[in-house]
Amino acid sequence: MSYSLPRGTQDILPGKVEIWHSIEKEIRELSRRFNYHEIRTPIFEHTELFQRGVGDSTDIVQKEMYSFEDRGERSLTLRPEGTAGVVRAFVEHKMFGQPDLPEKLYYVGPMFRYERPQAGRYRQFHQFGIEAIGSVDPAVDVEVMSFAVELFRKLGLRDTKLVVNSLGDASSRIAHREALVEHFSGRINEFCSDCQRRLHQNPLRILDCKKDHEHELVGNAPSILSYLNEESRTYFEKVKQYLDALAIPYEVDPTLVRGLDYYNHTCFEVMSTIEGFGAQTTLGGGGRYDGLVEQIGGPSAPGIGFGIGLERVVAAIEAEKSAELASGGIDVFVVALGDEAKDASVSLLSQLRSNGLSADKDYAEKKMKAQLKQANRKGARFVVILGEDELAKGIGVVKVMTTGEQIEVSVNEVATYVAAQKGGA
Ligand code: HAM
Repeated sequence: MSYSLPRGTQDILPGKVEIWHSIEKEIRELSRRFNYHEIRTPIFEHTELFQRGVGDSTDIVQKEMYSFEDRGERSLTLRPEGTAGVVRAFVEHKMFGQPDLPEKLYYVGPMFRYERPQAGRYRQFHQFGIEAIGSVDPAVDVEVMSFAVELFRKLGLRDTKLVVNSLGDASSRIAHREALVEHFSGRINEFCSDCQRRLHQNPLRILDCKKDHEHELVGNAPSILSYLNEESRTYFEKVKQYLDALAIPYEVDPTLVRGLDYYNHTCFEVMSTIEGFGAQTTLGGGGRYDGLVEQIGGPSAPGIGFGIGLERVVAAIEAEKSAELASGGIDVFVVALGDEAKDASVSLLSQLRSNGLSADKDYAEKKMKAQLKQANRKGARFVVILGEDELAKGIGVVKVMTTGEQIEVSVNEVATYVAAQKGGA
């Protein structure tokens, strides 16, 4: 009997996990700079939270949730996204009572959607998300977008673009909804059965149907931007003004609607524009959700955030060959020749590690040339060679792999020497 992975899941193996670590490190560092704090919510929640939060008319709730009954006959669901759980925690822990809103939170972890697996689309995937809850200031919208843009920049991704839209406030949306119903009603029988149901439940969903996205009526559907009322238009103008002030390039796409029901006003996505990246080019997306806190039992409190799919970010890093991040190399490899040198290498390795360096050596009695090859395979930035002659003189030879430069250093000082040099290599 042999076992294989469940469809749509992945093992993240050594060699690749280092890219994940680099991304996670960047995420935590940027969260510190933007002053967002980590929140860890359960991986499963009550099913009704997602039905109400994400929305009954969405594909996520209709088709993609991993729901199950526990032994106490409660319906639970593996979280398909992070926002609903974070907002539930915001309400449950009465964070709305804090003097300094917005509450700025971030999370990283696995999410689950029963989707048809393909490159960039999985059944278990990982999201990094941020949520700023408790402010309607358009400057917060721009803080959230600039966080996403800055993260991709720090990860070395150059081929990305930010696409923004406004879905307006409740009254703008009612007017737009009526226009959509009128637009599609006459020819709705040309659409899939899901869209026929969506027509009256939530016609906005027709615009992002995976099956009918090429239908001409989707292409020339009434644009939400023509239905924004004065207040919504002013809000969107302010958001764009701040984006311009920060010199963040963006495109306005009036057809961007997003696949979750809770959005209003600002919504946005960041896409990869690398050629041949595949069908799933959206690295992350988000928007404002001013009614969500109230909808799931809290007081009226506005919010905005984004979620970024980490599998897609890893793929983009690999596709752009953001080499430094992609390499999981070690700092130092110790090459030892002869019994005495082998003994000395054991304590040298320990000193290197105590100095904060990642270090390794050969444990298979390899010859010099084979040890050097092993150092290369491990992506070592420095190699320290301990030979019998060197050891007799109390020195090791430190080789900088990027330049080929070699320096003799007293064995006792090798660790501090390499640690000091590391920044420049
Ligand atoms: P979403 O657009 O559903 O938004 O997901 C955000 C990102 O998660 C997507 O852009 C994509 O990169 C990734 N993603 C989604 N589904 C999959 C999948 N099956 N496989 C791989 N990656 C996937 C949300 O989830 C919102 N909670 C974002 C948000 C936060 N809005 C406000 N705050």
